[in-house]
Amino acid sequence: MSPVRVLVTGAGRGIGRAVALRFAREGAALALAARTRSELEAVAREVAAAGGRAHVVELDQADPASVARGVTAAVAALGGLDVLVNNAGVFAVAPFAELDLATWERLLRVNLTGPFLVTQAALPALLGSRGVIVGISSMAGLQGYPGSTGYCATKYGLRGLDDALREELREAGVRVVTVYPGGTDTTIFDDVPGEWDRSTMNTPAEVAEVVWQAWRGADGQADWTVPPPGGAA
Ligand SMILES: NC(=O)c1ccc[n+]([C@@H]2O[C@H](COP(=O)([O-])OP(=O)(O)OC[C@H]3O[C@@H](n4cnc5c(N)ncnc54)[C@H](OP(=O)(O)O)[C@@H]3O)[C@@H](O)[C@H]2O)c1
Repeated sequence: MSPVRVLVTGAGRGIGRAVALRFAREGAALALAARTRSELEAVAREVAAAGGRAHVVELDQADPASVARGVTAAVAALGGLDVLVNNAGVFAVAPFAELDLATWERLLRVNLTGPFLVTQAALPALLGSRGVIVGISSMAGLQGYPGSTGYCATKYGLRGLDDALREELREAGVRVVTVYPGGTDTTIFDDVPGEWDRSTMNTPAEVAEVVWQAWRGADGQADWTVPPPGGAA
């Protein structure tokens, strides 16, 4: 059987890296996308060691021209596409009264416009393979958290995009599933003010396992939550 062909955005670290390694264990052919080439190259080496194949695709999903170039290169390198994992995203917290327009627009641009651009660019290939789109939203796409108005707006937005796209693509045979992780121990918290008890969070590998199950989708489930073991949000 030919290997499943997977494009993972934000694959340089955190959840995206773990998703790439989970698919690699099954012998997948991967395109690893993000802005930082050195991190992608390191993950590509890990993918090879785990039994997969990986192509590195430098891509800024906030930039339409970069997305067009990157997704075209990914699909060409893989010879098509079976799975798109819309994972790349950024996080910011601020009391609503202090949330500045630049931060609001960056959150929307990366977390919501990014998946819009990547999915549109990948859609012809996914229609060709009757593939699967996996959105990485967040528990913050299902419930509000103080200090997270901007981030929550983007993650509720991705949920809306995925829910509507699921209905729109059903007849064409493209499946859309959404994963809602709770707090997960990654670098996303590194420069964000606040007390983050990472010991109570999911590991990236735990989220990746759910992404794997969501992709396989044996029972037709569309929404997959990943509550953290220690109850962190
Ligand atoms: N960690 C959590 O608690 C948690 C919980 C729920 C949902 N999530 C979601 O899970 C996803 C991954 O988060 P993470 O925790 O793994 O974060 P992370 O460790 O900070 O990794 C984020 C990845 O996204 C990439 N990225 C950021 N901006 C990008 C852009 N403009 N274009 C392309 N790639 C970009 C980063 O690479 P470059 O910087 O090199 O581009 C990096 O590879 C995000 O969508 C996040 O919202 C995280």
